[in-house]
This record gives sequence, C-alpha cells and structure tokens, in this order.
Amino acid sequence: MNFTGKVALVTGCKQGIGYEIALSLAENGADVVLNDVGISEEDEIFKKISNLGRKATCASADISNEDQVNQLFDKVKTEFGKLDILVNNAGITRDAISSKMTLDQWNKVIAVNLTGTFLCSKAAVKLMEVPGEGAIINFSSLAGVKGNIGQANYSASKAAVIGLTKTLSLEYARKNVRVNAIAPGVIATPMTETIPDNVKQNMISRIPLQRMGTPRDVANVVLFLASPESAYVTGQLIHVNGGLY
Ligand SMILES: NC(=O)c1ccc[n+]([C@@H]2O[C@H](COP(=O)([O-])OP(=O)(O)OC[C@H]3O[C@@H](n4cnc5c(N)ncnc54)[C@H](O)[C@@H]3O)[C@@H](O)[C@H]2O)c1
Repeated sequence: MNFTGKVALVTGCKQGIGYEIALSLAENGADVVLNDVGISEEDEIFKKISNLGRKATCASADISNEDQVNQLFDKVKTEFGKLDILVNNAGITRDAISSKMTLDQWNKVIAVNLTGTFLCSKAAVKLMEVPGEGAIINFSSLAGVKGNIGQANYSASKAAVIGLTKTLSLEYARKNVRVNAIAPGVIATPMTETIPDNVKQNMISRIPLQRMGTPRDVANVVLFLASPESAYVTGQLIHVNGGLY
C-alpha cells in the first residue's frame, strides 16, 4: 500500500497497537502525527519514524480534554494544512466487577474511549474536507460486542463506539470521509500484559487460531481501511480476533 503524500494522525501511539499502526503507516510512506499523553521526540516511535525518512510530529494531548484536542488539531493544521487518516486508537481500562465499580472508574473509561473518539473525529473531519477524501478508523473491542465480566465501563464504551462509527459514516459520507471500526480480540500489548498467565493460556486455548494477536495483525487491517483499496467500505466493524467470535 502506498500512503506517500498522506498525513495520518494516530492517537495513543507510544506503545502497543498504536505504536505499530504509526510505524506501519510510515513504512508505507505516510507522514504521521504522533499523539499520546506526554509523547515527545525522546520516544522510540518518533525516532523510528524519523529514521525511515518520514516526517513525524509529536502532539501530546489527553484526547478526553476538548481544549487539548483542539490544540492538537490546530497543530496538524499549521504543520500540514490537511489530514487524510485519523486512527482513534487510544483507549484505557479500569476494570472492576460492576457492583464494585466506582463512578470515577466508569467516567474515566467513557471519557477516553468514547468521548475522546467523538472529539477527535469531529475535529478531524474539518481538516479532511480540504482534499475531499479521508478515512477514520475507530477502536471498538470484542468486549464491546459480547460483554466481559469486570468490564462494564470498557464494554459499554466500546459498544458505543460502534454506534458512533455507524452514525459518523452516514454523516460524513457526502464529504467522502469513510468511518469504520476494528474490534480486536486478545492482542499482546502492555494492556493485556497484566492478565495472569493461567488466564491467558485459558483464553488462547479458546482462540481457533491458537495464539494471541500481534499489534501488526491489527495494524494490517488499519492499513486496508485507511487505503483506497477499501474505497467502498464505510460504517463497518471488522473483527480481528483469530476466529474467537
Ligand atoms: N490489547 C488488546 O487485546 C485489545 C483488545 C481489544 C481492543 N483494544 C483496543 O485497542 C486500542 C489499543 O490498545 P493497546 O492494547 O495498544 O493499549 P495500550 O494500553 O498498550 O496503549 C494505549 C495507549 O493509549 C494512550 N492513552 C491512554 N489514554 C490516553 C488519552 N487520554 N489521550 C491520549 N492517549 C492516551 C496510552 O498512554 C497508551 O500509549 C485501545 O483502544 C484498546 O481498547 C485492545
């Protein structure tokens, strides 16, 4: 795939899936705006992309904060004048059985996973009208489709991302901006590192492909949804879960 001349913004790309998405977009020619909380030119992802000869710009922002999101997109406008691809990857968990879940745990997860995706999409589409085509890729989760014990906040936020994706795909279609979502299953990242080994082995035994996914497995699907090869795909949820669901 060739993203030469394209500008992509990836939220939450200091580590995990976002890191791999930013890197693979740059490997395929894109210039990349790197967002995360406190991201800087000292971070490995910035150095790696710069070494590829692509332009990388660090834009630290908490995506759940509207002022910070507006500053982030002002920076994209000033430096690039347009945006072609937005990957709403940043996400958090604050797990607890729902009877013990605090309102703070609930609100934090909804604020980042759902409100952050809304705020970034709303700001991005204004910059996508310039070239008249664009792609937004949102992050849902298997938990958002089938629920998960201890993740009422997370699964509710990820289910809502599906509804948000479908609505934005309808609203933005006439601007030729496509909006799709990915629902990863169990992917080996710092987010899943804390799962106890015995629980992990049990999960893997239930995955038809018999392994956890890699961040690259997810990034490859992002590349497809960001590219003209998926020009007639919008409003869809793509599962990346080794056949688990
Ligand atoms: N790992 C999995 O198995 C899995 C499964 C389903 C869905 N997902 C989703 O995929 C996405 C990436 O997951 P991951 O496993 O790489 O997670 P991760 O925790 O490894 O990385 C998430 C990144 O997002 C950043 N971030 C968190 N809050 C932010 C905020 N407010 N503003 C900006 N950046 C912020 C973090 O600093 C971190 O760098 C998330 O949306 C997650 O919910 C992951």
